[in-house]
Amino acid sequence: MTLCSNDYLGLARDPAHSAAVMAAATGLATGAGASRLVSGNLASHEALEGRLAAWTGQEAALLFSSGYAANAGLFGALLQEGDAVFSDALNHASIIDGIRLGRARKHVYAHGDVAALEALLAEHRGEGLAVIVTESVFSMDGDLAPLAALVEVAERFEALLVVDEAHALGLYGDAGAGVLASLGCSAKAGAVVGTFGKSLGAAGAFVAGSSLLRELLVNRARSFVFSTAPSPFSVAAVEVALPVVEAGERRAAAWRAAGWMAAALEARGWWQGPARSLIFPIVGGAPERAVALSGALLARGYHVQAIRPPTVPVDTSRLRVTVEATMTEETVSGFVEALDASARSLGIERRAGSHVG
Ligand SMILES: Cc1ncc(COP(=O)(O)O)c(C=O)c1O
Repeated sequence: MTLCSNDYLGLARDPAHSAAVMAAATGLATGAGASRLVSGNLASHEALEGRLAAWTGQEAALLFSSGYAANAGLFGALLQEGDAVFSDALNHASIIDGIRLGRARKHVYAHGDVAALEALLAEHRGEGLAVIVTESVFSMDGDLAPLAALVEVAERFEALLVVDEAHALGLYGDAGAGVLASLGCSAKAGAVVGTFGKSLGAAGAFVAGSSLLRELLVNRARSFVFSTAPSPFSVAAVEVALPVVEAGERRAAAWRAAGWMAAALEARGWWQGPARSLIFPIVGGAPERAVALSGALLARGYHVQAIRPPTVPVDTSRLRVTVEATMTEETVSGFVEALDASARSLGIERRAGSHVG
C-alpha cells in the first residue's frame, strides 16, 4: 500500500477513469508534432486553457509540459533586471530554479511569516516590479500559506502575487479550484500555477493569469517556446478528469481519509490538531532515521518514501505521508499501527506533527 503518492483523488489508477480517458483519446493524434508556436497549436489546447482560466477565476491560461516547466517558464519570463522577487523559504525547487532563470533580486522570507515579508517589501520598495511567490499548500509540510494576509500585503505594496496551487487543486473550494478560490480571492492573484500530475491524475501543468501575462509567456517563457506542445492524449486526460474533480465526491472522500489519518496519528502521539491538507509530515531529524523508518514500514507492506535534503532543509528529513480518496479507515489505522510498531522497534520516539503553529 502506497502512502506517498500525490494522486490525491485516486484518479490516476482508477480503471473506470482510465477507460473514460482511453475512449476520449481514441482517434486523436498521439503527439502535437511541434511546439505551439510552430505547428503544434491545437484547438484542444486552447479549449482546455479557456476552461482552466474559468476554473481558477483568471482571464487566461497557458499549458506547460509540467509544473516544473511552468514555474521555470513563468519566473524566467516575468522577472527582469531591476525587479524584486519575495519567496517563501519553503517554496518548491521548481520555483527556486525558475527564480534563478529570471534576473530579479531574490529575497527569501521566513516560512509563512507575513511580518517578515512586509519588512522586506518595505526595505526594497521601488526596485521595479515586485513579485511575491508562495505555494498555497506546502508540498513537504502540508501546511497552508497565510493567503488572505498575503493578498492584502500584495495589494498594499502593489506587488504581483503568484500562488502555486499544485497540492491544492481538486481539494479546496466548491469546485476544487484551490485555496484562493476557497477564500473567494482568485482574482486577487496575479498568477496561479497548477499541475495535472497530482489531483487530476495526469501530467502537465498550466499558468493562469491576465491575458497580458499569457501573451508575455507565449513570447518569453522558454520552457513554452522551445518545447513540444502537450500531446492531445494528455489534454484529453485532463478534460475527462476536470468534471470529476469539480463534482466533489472524491474531494469529500479525500478529506474523510485525511480526518481518519489525523485522528489515528493523534491517538498514538504522532499528530496534533485537525487535518488542513492531505500531507502529513512525520518524524523530523537526521536522514538515517527517516530512511530506517521507511524501510521498516516497507517490510510491513507500507510504502512511504523518506524525504531528505535537498528536498527538505538539513535535519528535517521525514516521512511525507499522504492520503487518497480511495483509502478506507482500516487502511489508515493499519498504517498508523505499523508506523507505531516500526518506530518502537527502531527506538524512534514519537514526535507530534501538525498543520498549525
Ligand atoms: C509546489 C509544486 N510546484 C510544482 C511542482 C512540479 O510539478 P510537476 O510534477 O508537474 O512538474 C511540484 C511537484 O512536486 C510541486 O510540489
